[in-house]
Amino acid sequence: MDHEQLSEEERIVIRFSHVVGEDTPKGLAARKFAKLMNERSGEHVEVQVFPNGILYKDSKEMEALSNGSIQMIAPATSKVTSLVPEWSVIDLPYAFESYEEVHDYIDGDTGQELIAKLDAKGYVMLGMWDNGFKQLTNRSYPILHPSDVADLKIRIMPSDILHEQFSIFGAVPIKVDFNTVFQSFEGGEIDGQENTMSNIASKNIHLQQKYLTVSNHGYLGYVLMMNKEFWNGLPEEVQLLITETLSEVSDWERELAKELNESELTEMEECACIEIHYISQAEKEIWEEAFEPVYEYYRKRFGAKYIDSLPKYKGGKDT
Ligand code: LMR
Repeated sequence: MDHEQLSEEERIVIRFSHVVGEDTPKGLAARKFAKLMNERSGEHVEVQVFPNGILYKDSKEMEALSNGSIQMIAPATSKVTSLVPEWSVIDLPYAFESYEEVHDYIDGDTGQELIAKLDAKGYVMLGMWDNGFKQLTNRSYPILHPSDVADLKIRIMPSDILHEQFSIFGAVPIKVDFNTVFQSFEGGEIDGQENTMSNIASKNIHLQQKYLTVSNHGYLGYVLMMNKEFWNGLPEEVQLLITETLSEVSDWERELAKELNESELTEMEECACIEIHYISQAEKEIWEEAFEPVYEYYRKRFGAKYIDSLPKYKGGKDT
């Protein structure tokens, strides 16, 4: 597009707000998306990125998107459950073995139903970015079995399934905004948390906590979202440019997410600043069994459909 000399009215500004640091998979991809959009649109479209929750905290960004204060967000799927609780199927412990399984699920019929539910609430999903699989940290003792979390206060993202995942073992799950986690550790309001290596490292959580369990028990990825009214008001050529650019950036982001999470774990092994425990394949089977009641809880609330089409029950792709 060639749009020199554009007036303020003609310029399209997309304020993209997110809560993580700039050197994370989401932070870097948001910047890349902004740069490409600005270049490719001849500055007709200006994507402005606001990282680290400087504009809106996690608990406020949906509302800000809805009332038009910002135009784009990329919350973790767990946070989307505040709009469409069925999305918490993604939070089920050990629901997915790989990033590819998550992508196939979202691209399949059940995933499309979840997307349609979001659409019905006034939000357009434009893609999905990965972060990684979550690990557990805490300050008290090594967690070698899920029931070891009993009595710990664990920070969670706002999702009933994550709440259930810890409360069934007697832990106290506490919803805390991402950018308040560090202070909550210092203030003693929480003892532990679950997150990806990239999020743990970017917030220096490993320097505050004593024990890390590499359990890979849950997926953390992002739903790229816009307000539907805003999206529908965009010229078709701009919609196309956004979709194409996002698709390209998503491929790049997914590779980056894998690399960053692996390298952060290696760094943590080398720094010897936190005691690391790895869950073996045999232990993982024990963990999976221990988490069965969480699946029952989901089934009771939302029926069998979303769970039955998980890859582990279908033995393959969601079609
Ligand atoms: C969290 O709150 O732990 C994550 O959702 C942060 C993020 O956006 O990766």
